[in-house]
Amino acid sequence: MKQVEISTGKSYKVLIGNGILSDSGRLIAEVSHAKTAAIVTDDIVNLLYADTLEASLKSAGFNTVKFVFPNGEGSKNINTYSDMLEFMAENRLTRSDLIVALGGGVTGDMAGFTAATYLRGIDFVQIPTTLLAMVDSSVGGKTAIDLNAGKNLAGAFYQPSLVIVDTDTLSSLKPETFADGMAETIKYGVLFDRDFFDFLLNENAKNSLEETVEKCVCFKRDTVNADENDRGIRGLLNLGHTAGHAIEKCSGYSISHGSAVAIGMVIIARGAYKSGLVKKDITPNIIEILEKYNLPTQTDYTADELFKAAGSDKKCDGGKITLIIPETVGKCRLYKTEFNEFYDILKKGLK
Ligand code: GLY
Repeated sequence: MKQVEISTGKSYKVLIGNGILSDSGRLIAEVSHAKTAAIVTDDIVNLLYADTLEASLKSAGFNTVKFVFPNGEGSKNINTYSDMLEFMAENRLTRSDLIVALGGGVTGDMAGFTAATYLRGIDFVQIPTTLLAMVDSSVGGKTAIDLNAGKNLAGAFYQPSLVIVDTDTLSSLKPETFADGMAETIKYGVLFDRDFFDFLLNENAKNSLEETVEKCVCFKRDTVNADENDRGIRGLLNLGHTAGHAIEKCSGYSISHGSAVAIGMVIIARGAYKSGLVKKDITPNIIEILEKYNLPTQTDYTADELFKAAGSDKKCDGGKITLIIPETVGKCRLYKTEFNEFYDILKKGLK
């Protein structure tokens, strides 16, 4: 089992291994004295992994209760959040009890926000079961729900007590859901590490899942340790996300987050180069690696449609927007600019 230590305001471990879900009760007991563990999961993951988790928690001495919601981004709203809070109260969870999020990013974000706010904060553990949640959303304490105006618009920074990554759970993912996580994985290569990028390009990440997840978690650790509350360099993790979120929004969220981020990385790389913001055009490198992992690299939405949709993005601040500009593979920079320049970059980046 691999172990990565996160040293934010609250320190915790990310444990990564094959088959460790069945040992999760014991691992959780090392960080929690809760009597009751409330499992939060969606209806798909419930059928796959909740029994293993529940049995393991029980054998470690926890009482368990379980909240199951319909899978998908459509559930990540104030109604499910409210139902979750009521569920915790009905089951009389106390401040010394625990929420365990079992599932992908939607589950982790919502369960984390519930943990952050129920009784003004109770402990929670993340057990991500998608690649995207393993390499990104389960680590770093961003918790949220969506509002009608956009994604993740209500939330809190609230760190888990432990993250347990069982890479065996990736075997049940649909290929397109695995590819989604690869978009965020590739993002780390573009942001921080040419060698990692080349490794992903020349090898198959599926053959080295523990190492790949560990590497990504280390990049995430370094970023959130330096900027837990996302006031500076944590913003780099949004590479491809401004255009990406706009694509997701334009599609009514039928285009997945990973696919949208993949296209968003191409748009910003090409747009930055054509706008003279960087010397080197790395668009072909990005397209090559995305295609290898069956990710899309273009969209039919126009610059006008995407620009309008980007208006509610959290990265907009007083008429300005912060973009992440890839200078070369393995090095990016934050670039705060006017909205009209963003429109230009977007337009140039589309083709
Ligand atoms: N998912 C980006 C971040 O955690 O900051």
